[in-house]
Amino acid sequence: MRISVFGCGYLGAVHAASMAELGHDVVGVDVDAAKIAALGEGHAPFFEPGLPDLLERGVRSRRLRFSTDPADAADAEVHFLAVGTPQSEESGAADLRYVDAAVEAIAAIVRPGALVAGKSTVPVGTAARLAPILEARGAKLAWNPEFLREGFAIEDTLRPDRLVYGVSDDADAAVLDEVYATAIEAGTPRIVTDYATAELVKVSANAFLATKISFINAMAEISEATGADVTSLADAIGLDARIGRRFLNAGVGFGGGCLPKDIRAFQARADELGVGESLHFLREVDAINLRRRQRVVDVAAELLDGDVAGKRIAVLGLAFKPDSDDVRDSPALDVAARLSALGADVVATDPEAIGPALRRVADLATAPTVEEAARDADLVVLLTEWREYRDLEPERLGAVTRGRRIIDGRNVLQPQAWRNAGWEYRGLGR
Ligand code: UDX
Repeated sequence: MRISVFGCGYLGAVHAASMAELGHDVVGVDVDAAKIAALGEGHAPFFEPGLPDLLERGVRSRRLRFSTDPADAADAEVHFLAVGTPQSEESGAADLRYVDAAVEAIAAIVRPGALVAGKSTVPVGTAARLAPILEARGAKLAWNPEFLREGFAIEDTLRPDRLVYGVSDDADAAVLDEVYATAIEAGTPRIVTDYATAELVKVSANAFLATKISFINAMAEISEATGADVTSLADAIGLDARIGRRFLNAGVGFGGGCLPKDIRAFQARADELGVGESLHFLREVDAINLRRRQRVVDVAAELLDGDVAGKRIAVLGLAFKPDSDDVRDSPALDVAARLSALGADVVATDPEAIGPALRRVADLATAPTVEEAARDADLVVLLTEWREYRDLEPERLGAVTRGRRIIDGRNVLQPQAWRNAGWEYRGLGR
């Protein structure tokens, strides 16, 4: 099929490359000329495993093109809307200016009979508001939310665990079935519903995941007060199939470009709709999550005789999660900045996210390797569970640090192994 993707950020670039991989003829459109130039040469503007290969293959096969000119997308049978919906500074609501601008750009070039499929995460009610703009041009709108996780974005796009179509007309579902024929043939469940439900599926899924993480982090707080071990607790409750072990890892909490902003935007939308009370618990979810960052700072002070000022602290990890260079709302970067603000001599490292972190916190001291970050450190703080940090050997690390103190902000190390090597080990909720 002939497909366009408006917005070539994380979601759009991955979607465009994946659609070309499925054999479609794809053009990606974005207002950012530098991004379009890089993508057009097959370069990924951010770190995502597998994306460079996919881009290169797509561009080389000529099935994948990029442009800053919406007119280059006029031929498309399906236009995907994949622009960002950032958080508004004051209200926490989603800022829809890019969505509105993209719909206007599509409306100006769309052919009658084409389908526009929204993938961006939007407040419920957005699709119903936008549909008439496209219908006036003889085109239709569907809402087809995306559930991709950074680090697994291609897998999640090519082999999603479900497809959700919000449509005003069942015939539009058949068009999306053609786009996703490969996944459907592989048995991917598909739910065809109305606009509002499709929009809500996305935000409620993220609200649920955020709640699950904050639930276990609340149990970490209780564990800290009682001497219990939240990791064993999670293992035990996770064996109940109704609960499940995934997303029950206690630690420094969630961050990234989705969960934090989505739960705030969801609350703001519920307030507007007069049903704010229904989502009051999400304020608590947010508050528990942010408290974990301060907890790391407090434990650091405890381990360093009450004060972090003037102490050398090595921070391992800056990305909001492993296999990503994304530092948006990253708990790791936030903790590093908090420790620096208290006068600690912080040196941070990350396999991929040092550049993005420096663009946000320009005066952050960084080092390219664990050894360099940890040299002469009084304390090591692990905040993003990259494989190479999980595999650290206590003796080897202890050979370069000044003190043997470690905070395991993701509860991924074996406490006994570190203690046996003479380290003062502290997890979160262990
Ligand atoms: C999330 C959703 O998973 C995805 O479906 C949606 O489309 C976009 O938002 P992503 O932001 O890539 O994806 O990250 P995810 O893997 O969900 O992790 C979010 C955050 O939660 C990370 O900071 C991670 O470290 C944290 N997390 C996750 C925990 O603290 N504990 C856990 O048990 C799981």
